Amino acid sequence: MSDTSNLIELCAKDDVGDGEVIKVETDDLELAVYHVGDRFYVTDNMCTHGPGELSEGYLEGHVIECDFHQGQFDIRNGEVVAPPCVLKLKTYKVVDHDSAVVIETPQD
Ligand code: FES
Repeated sequence: MSDTSNLIELCAKDDVGDGEVIKVETDDLELAVYHVGDRFYVTDNMCTHGPGELSEGYLEGHVIECDFHQGQFDIRNGEVVAPPCVLKLKTYKVVDHDSAVVIETPQD
C-alpha cells in the first residue's frame, strides 16, 4: 500500500484552551486550530471573504465569527453560516493523537 498523505504536527493539545482558537503557521499553511469539548478542528486561518483572520474571531460552539465583517463558518465542515461570506472555508482532517494536534494533508 502506498503512502498518500502527510502528517503535520501543529501544536500541543494543551496550547488550545477549550472554546478557544489559535493561529498556527507551518512552512506553507496558515491555520486556525480550534478546541471544542473533547475535539479539535483545523481550518484555514484567512477568511474566504477578505483579510480577516479567523484566529482573531469569536468562537461560539462550532461556529467561528470573523471579526472583520462578522461572517460565520461551521468549523466542522467549513460551510458558511452567515453572510457576507459566500465561499466555503477549507478544513483539514485531524488525526487521533494523545497529546498533539496533528492533521493529514494530501501528498503533492
Ligand atoms: Fe471575514 Fe469579511 S473578512 S467576513
